[in-house]
Amino acid sequence: MYDVETIRADFPILSREVNGKPLVYLDNGASAQKPRVVIDAMTHAYEKEYANVHRGLHYLSNLATDKYEAVRGIVARFLNAPDPEEIVFTTGTTEGINLVSYAWAAPRMQAGDEIVLSVLEHHANIVPWHFLRERQGVVLKWVEPESDGALDPQKVIDAIGPKTKLVAVTQMSNVTGTLVDVATICRGAKEKGVPVLVDGSQGSVHRPVSIPEIGCDFYAITGHKLYGPSGSGAIWIAKERMKEMRPFLGGGDMIRDVYRDTVTYNDPPMKFEAGTPGIVQQIGMGVALEYLMGLGMENIAAHEAELAAYATQRFKGLNWLNIQGSAPGKGAIFSMTLEGAAHAHDISTVLDKKGVAVRAGTHCAMPLLDFFGVTATCRASFGLYNTKAEVDKLIEALELCHELFA
Ligand code: ALA
Repeated sequence: MYDVETIRADFPILSREVNGKPLVYLDNGASAQKPRVVIDAMTHAYEKEYANVHRGLHYLSNLATDKYEAVRGIVARFLNAPDPEEIVFTTGTTEGINLVSYAWAAPRMQAGDEIVLSVLEHHANIVPWHFLRERQGVVLKWVEPESDGALDPQKVIDAIGPKTKLVAVTQMSNVTGTLVDVATICRGAKEKGVPVLVDGSQGSVHRPVSIPEIGCDFYAITGHKLYGPSGSGAIWIAKERMKEMRPFLGGGDMIRDVYRDTVTYNDPPMKFEAGTPGIVQQIGMGVALEYLMGLGMENIAAHEAELAAYATQRFKGLNWLNIQGSAPGKGAIFSMTLEGAAHAHDISTVLDKKGVAVRAGTHCAMPLLDFFGVTATCRASFGLYNTKAEVDKLIEALELCHELFA
């Protein structure tokens, strides 16, 4: 049974006040809070088990290496991925997508080749492709969502032409919570022989993920949204794609031999991991993923679906509130503007005075805000520890904004 009050007690920060009010943390889309087990595991690692990995032959280095390398297996289990060797550690989704852009896409694409993207994408799944447009004439082909923010998978498949070399698509919008049927997109793309990169930054946090069911080629996650530390993350890359990739960053660990006039590289996944990694961050992410699997991703999804349904029903009573993107089955992320009222930054400032933390602005998704015809929104993004009482507190604070600014 999912007991949200017991779960909340696992997160020390949730018991603090801000501005003299109990914290209502609704900025999980930006970064989630960390359970005590993650904080303790990281302290323990630094206090008792820290050394550099893969390098020393001494006790602590071997211990740290074992703990760090074990996380590959945990990530693979979390993603239901067949092989831990297909997991590359990164600092987050942004690095994961940049890795694919630089190491896989750039050497394979000529001027006029296309990448199919949706307008839902976060800048992290846009800008690395713009680099290829600027540097080598790659064409970005955009797929529009429906007016409710839904993305029709068939439209994405139809956009794939003979010059398309990659489809890059999110599993869940960080602005609207819209879920994308990435499995259908991957099936259609596979029939046309085109690889698919899935941005799992948000999707992996709210739903169970199974790589074989999705059928993608690249799947990127970020630890700090998964209740783990910032600076942790991973990307799953299909073995066949890994073989096609050149190295990314150069330095220690990613090499086998370095001579004055030649260099040979390590085998994947280490070929793509240069320099001393975020050792303790990745260990912390492993603990966070174990924590999530312990709660059960299906249970988290069910809890958040209840919150989303309750919030949707409460928002309906507020005729001065516009919610951007109301596609059926969306996750518990709500972007909003107030009718004829203040800027999103002013609204979030009033909310903050009431202890309610939200994000305001463009949410690193300017093409999507442009699609909705807004320049900024306030975004309430719920997580596994939020409650219906917190939905009520959000609404009370929004009502205050309406009174103040209308
Ligand atoms: N990508 C994060 C967000 O959506 C930062 O807020």
